[in-house]
Amino acid sequence: MITLPGLIDIHVHLRDPGQTNKEDFTTGTAAALAGGFTTVFDMPNNRKPITTWARLQEKMIIAKKKILGDVGFYFGSLGDNLAEFTRVKPLVFGLKLYLNITTGGFIIDKKQLLSIYKAWSSEKPILLHSEEEMVGAIIDVVRKTGQRSHFCHISSRNELSQIMKAKQEGLPVTCGVTAHHLFLTIDDARLFGPYVQMKPSLKSRRDVDYLWTHLRDIDVIESDHAPHTLAEKESDKPPFGVPGLETTLPLLLTAVSEDKLELKEIWRLCYDNPRQLLKLPDIKETYIEVDEQEEYEINDQELQTKCGWSPFSGEKVRGRVKRVYIRGEKVYENRALVKPGWGTVLGAD
Ligand code: DOR
Ligand code: ZN
Repeated sequence: MITLPGLIDIHVHLRDPGQTNKEDFTTGTAAALAGGFTTVFDMPNNRKPITTWARLQEKMIIAKKKILGDVGFYFGSLGDNLAEFTRVKPLVFGLKLYLNITTGGFIIDKKQLLSIYKAWSSEKPILLHSEEEMVGAIIDVVRKTGQRSHFCHISSRNELSQIMKAKQEGLPVTCGVTAHHLFLTIDDARLFGPYVQMKPSLKSRRDVDYLWTHLRDIDVIESDHAPHTLAEKESDKPPFGVPGLETTLPLLLTAVSEDKLELKEIWRLCYDNPRQLLKLPDIKETYIEVDEQEEYEINDQELQTKCGWSPFSGEKVRGRVKRVYIRGEKVYENRALVKPGWGTVLGAD
């Protein structure tokens, strides 16, 4: 058995409020605990995007009643809500901007970028969904403003090499990668079609190998847990995204057992750097116990996520979360939630 700190996932979509047919705060945080994540940070692309103080308040109140682990939030912007920034800044951990089309159609006009950046101007980061050529556009704005910026779910050699250069230049940028972009390739997209349709899309073996080779230059692993129902995935217009909270750690532990990854890298990518990035305090007596020897097959029936499926179902993994403690209380044990109501909304008074 090994003990790790309660892991931190800086990028999830818990869908509450508005799309609780896919997930809600209770099932989403249950999935987080089952996957070893005691703290998660929820994105603003709800059905009604979180672009006003009032919507953020509403979301935080709902979360407080339903969460099983700790949750923090990001704010969203389409460039028309800059006056809200001052009021929401103390409540959130960053601002999320979408520069490419994805779930929710929540995309900003590039011309608005600089004014959004200037209005936000904060120690708290701006997080970006910006793929390929949009990475360069962001780097230009970071150079002009000095604003801390985090590139979410980078997936290609082109993206990572641009970010590595920006880091060498001394710009305050960080980046994250998802488990699906590390463990799946475009060949899986051909095999599994809509189930693995996500943004960014899966990439070539060459891109994936580049991410693994340059893992030292990647700051965090983020699940981008993006649950959609099977019915939606099997429809004429399958939405983008895959669930990931329950499979990220087992996949990483399996890589450790195969000598592809060092255990201390999980610590760095899923705890130390997320904490540093979002300036989180150390949460006392918050840790997970993991049986690193246990082998099992990922199986839809065992998942806590409401969507009830995983692109990794059928995959044999090694390493299972046995117990989770938050602030000294055992909240999860052997695939069961043992202490509901123990989570906190971070950033709320
Ligand atoms: O695949 C994705 N799904 N990418 C995103 O950027 C959003 C996410 C979602 O919310 O479903
Ligand atoms: Zn996302």
